[in-house]
Amino acid sequence: MDEKRYLTFALTKGRLAAKTLSLLEQAGITCEEMRDKESRKLVFVNEEQRLKFFLAKGPDVPTYVEYGAADIGVTGKDELLEEGRRVYEVLDLGFGKCRMCVCGPARAGELLQHHEMIRVATKYPVIAKDYFYNKKHQTVDIIKLNGSVELGPIVGLSDVIVDIVETGSTLRENGLEVLEEICPLSARMIVNRVSMQMETERIKALILKLRGLLAEEPQQEPVPRALPYT
Ligand code: PRP
Repeated sequence: MDEKRYLTFALTKGRLAAKTLSLLEQAGITCEEMRDKESRKLVFVNEEQRLKFFLAKGPDVPTYVEYGAADIGVTGKDELLEEGRRVYEVLDLGFGKCRMCVCGPARAGELLQHHEMIRVATKYPVIAKDYFYNKKHQTVDIIKLNGSVELGPIVGLSDVIVDIVETGSTLRENGLEVLEEICPLSARMIVNRVSMQMETERIKALILKLRGLLAEEPQQEPVPRALPYT
């Protein structure tokens, strides 16, 4: 008899992975190998259930899923919006909740009212461009940064930033505030389009199971920091 093919999961490294694994565990999906924190292994296998798991940087998860290197992925909505990959987004997992916002010093609020040409520093140029150009119809200069984006207005690189806000403590501690909210974010499950056709039964059963578990869960407390990227 033919063995079932492996279903491969690409998970986002860090706290999202920990939360995803605990949810999968409740759904009866386990991977003993992944519990070993010291392990330098990159791909973990559950032979019995014919599953494979690997950890990747958040922005790379949709890439692995689009190309079929993973059948299923879990990453933040921010990465899905930014990467624009052709994948099915099938489930809001309800954790990793935060907001994509335009932030800056209070005085910069004025600059957002009158379609002024301003500088916007961000790790998310696609999201920032879509917001300013298509929704606000404001022409801006977008400056791509790779982290510690709050530095932008503090050191005079930009007028405002577009960034993730979770607890708001990074903003508060640096004299910045939320000026406008772009959208809410949370962890999402995504599926490769071909896998969805080829493995419909297995994937749909998993989605239904997870959906049931999520419906039972009480509203979660926000985690203390934003979606992990490292
Ligand atoms: C994220 C985000 C903010 C911070 C928001 O950064 O870019 O800087 O967390 O969280 P808070 O509202 O709870 O303070 P991250 O830690 O991912 O690192 P980065 O600055 O290198 O992007």
